[in-house]
Amino acid sequence: MTETDFILNDFSLENISNGSITWKTPSNIALVKYWGKQEPQIPENASISFTLDACFTLTTLEYKLKEESQPEHVSGSAVEMLKQVQHDHNFEIYFEGEKKEDFKPKIATFFKRIEKHVPFLNAFEFVIKSENSFPHSSGIASSASGIGALALCVMSLEKAINPAMTDAYFNKKASFLARLGSGSACRSIEGPLIVWGNHPEIEGSSDLFGVKFPYKIHDNFKNYQDTILLVDEGEKQVSSTVGHQLMYNHPFAKQRFKQANSNISKISKVLQSGDLSAFIAIVESEALSLHAMMMTSNPYFILMKPNTLKIINEIWDFRAQSNSNICFTLDAGANVHVLFPAKEKETVNNFIKSNLMQFCQENHYICDSIGNGAISIFK
Ligand code: DP6
Repeated sequence: MTETDFILNDFSLENISNGSITWKTPSNIALVKYWGKQEPQIPENASISFTLDACFTLTTLEYKLKEESQPEHVSGSAVEMLKQVQHDHNFEIYFEGEKKEDFKPKIATFFKRIEKHVPFLNAFEFVIKSENSFPHSSGIASSASGIGALALCVMSLEKAINPAMTDAYFNKKASFLARLGSGSACRSIEGPLIVWGNHPEIEGSSDLFGVKFPYKIHDNFKNYQDTILLVDEGEKQVSSTVGHQLMYNHPFAKQRFKQANSNISKISKVLQSGDLSAFIAIVESEALSLHAMMMTSNPYFILMKPNTLKIINEIWDFRAQSNSNICFTLDAGANVHVLFPAKEKETVNNFIKSNLMQFCQENHYICDSIGNGAISIFK
């Protein structure tokens, strides 16, 4: 599929006026990382992630046709009509019950980036109401679940305008739109394992949207656990957007993109064979390679904290002393995602309580596991 397949050209707003749509959309954690992109949000390498379950954003989009967009005020086709209406996006945003002016620029940029593909947006006024299941200050990136949820709401509006679309197209276009808002968001629409980025060994993969891992996943990975240790609940000192930009002139960029694509080939086999030792080696190396890119960019920076390293060392000691398959991964921050098979839940949870919890801010951590993607909520 190409970009043009995602442009809605012919539509009518005759049977639509106002309403509301709600989506619950999970966060995701990358196993092979996306770090480096080209315009327009095209990743430099393929990435793969576990879709989460307990960490999600719930977003409601209330929509109302603008006065000047009502059929009696305009002439010609809907597309022509939209040329006549005001070209600013009219919306308010509430986060956890509070009006948030400072969230507006990000959403406005998102709407601008997607309007070519969803031209009907201009005809509406919106109120967006959003909340997260995890604390906003937790350092867990909410852009994947937040933008994912909003993209799905926009797609539900498109479906109301154009009911003929298939579920497969709906999900692809939701992922396509989400990608334009935040790359990792395109991996939050479905689950349990999503690949984003064109890769010769992943059938159907694309730079434009995320796809479900197309091969049979070994039972070892069913209901895999992710306990997120909240090491640093503060704001990140470097945003991922800036981090991605630093890959432009990075001395190791080429090698890194090659390494990531080769890790996709390896992890694809591992996910099918169930080889947990190989899984651990790829996932931990990916996490450290991501942070190595940050430490070797210009300017350089470190997002890990002393407690991040203490946790990593504890995990390595525990693994050496037991036959546990516990491992860690990191996103662009200090928090540690502790990954382990479902059957080790009890032992690993005990270990987390006795050895790792002390390194978390106010002993905070979140128990999550792999999920199946976003769901639409009927209110
Ligand atoms: C380290 O998706 O947040 O989490 O596309 O600029 O919004 P933008 O970046 P973003 O980057 C995520 C980077 C990462 C790795 C990953 O999720 O693959």
